[in-house]
Amino acid sequence: MRAMTANRRFVLKRYPSGVPVAADFELVDVPIATPAEGEVLVETHWLSMDPLPRLRMDPNAKFPPPLPLGALVVGRGVGLVRASRADGFAPGDWVAGELGWQEHAVVPATALRRVDPGAGPVQSALGVLGPSGITAWCLVNVAARVREGDTVVVAAAAGSVGSVAVQLAKLAGARVVGIVGGPRQAEFVRDAGAESSVDHRSTSLAADLAAALPQGASVFLDSVGGRLHEAVMERLAEHARVVAFGFISAYNAGAGAQPEYGRIYELIRRRATLSGFLVGDHVARFPEALAALSTLLREGRLRNAESVSDGLESAPAAFARLFDADPVGKQLVRVR
Ligand SMILES: NC(=O)c1ccc[n+]([C@@H]2O[C@H](COP(=O)([O-])OP(=O)(O)OC[C@H]3O[C@@H](n4cnc5c(N)ncnc54)[C@H](OP(=O)(O)O)[C@@H]3O)[C@@H](O)[C@H]2O)c1
Repeated sequence: MRAMTANRRFVLKRYPSGVPVAADFELVDVPIATPAEGEVLVETHWLSMDPLPRLRMDPNAKFPPPLPLGALVVGRGVGLVRASRADGFAPGDWVAGELGWQEHAVVPATALRRVDPGAGPVQSALGVLGPSGITAWCLVNVAARVREGDTVVVAAAAGSVGSVAVQLAKLAGARVVGIVGGPRQAEFVRDAGAESSVDHRSTSLAADLAAALPQGASVFLDSVGGRLHEAVMERLAEHARVVAFGFISAYNAGAGAQPEYGRIYELIRRRATLSGFLVGDHVARFPEALAALSTLLREGRLRNAESVSDGLESAPAAFARLFDADPVGKQLVRVR
């Protein structure tokens, strides 16, 4: 029988080769830690599945650094404060932060953000009212400055960031072409308002993009890189703005995966710009982004899409779905 003080957590057992599988992770029992001064004990209720931690599951990872074997698997979560030795947090408060794939986390209070349960379902602090929504808002409104008349191509358009970016670009008056990875995503992206969708796995990708973009793309929000990047670059309109903010096509490549972003000649001949984007550079805009997203959600003008799997033990499979299973919306694990 498990002790009442046991904390189940996933540790990294071996570095995945390609798309992660269950055997790359191990579920272990450890005692629940006690918070020190300035720390908070959080009971995990929701875990966010994000692609970026995959880059750390590589001994040759450059940035962020490799996750050591045997270490707790990293991941953001939402939970309830159970004990606090920090000002500003009390038992019963909902919080969000880096909790890791575990049932209980002891974290510095400075790394936690308070979650208002009145603002919507608490888990939306991981998606539309959290990092994904804020990233999409900053991409559309700050980095690409999407405006009426734009034709916006959104990579991974049915995903957590992409699905919000599609809707915000539509609200800004743009025409949107969503890049999808299967029929479920295609239906979802069109329901979210995109004029058309193109499947990145299509054998006629170049022709599909040409048909969807007769005037070319004036904005390309690219989180994929590789083959898709090259194909969309061929369809840029003059003075297009390309914003590169991820390269998921290479996240499972291992050996310190690097982005594949090329086609500089296309930038020159279209007099286009390519900029890199990290949401962390836009902290000053987060309150404005959150306020805007909350209002849109409350007014029913923004749809929040989630795919939920149940139980901590489902985390490895939920994580793998990010890479090759036609996932829709924010991928979440309900731990409790
Ligand atoms: N720069 C920043 O500040 C920042 C912040 C947040 C997120 N990001 C990046 O944004 C991207 C999306 O993150 P997210 O959390 O919203 O994840 P997500 O989009 O919910 O899930 C990943 C998506 O990528 C698609 N995908 C996987 N492999 C692909 C490939 N080879 N080619 C094309 N599509 C592929 C998946 O669908 P299919 O497998 O079915 O195609 C899935 O829709 C990631 O690249 C992430 O690193 C960057």
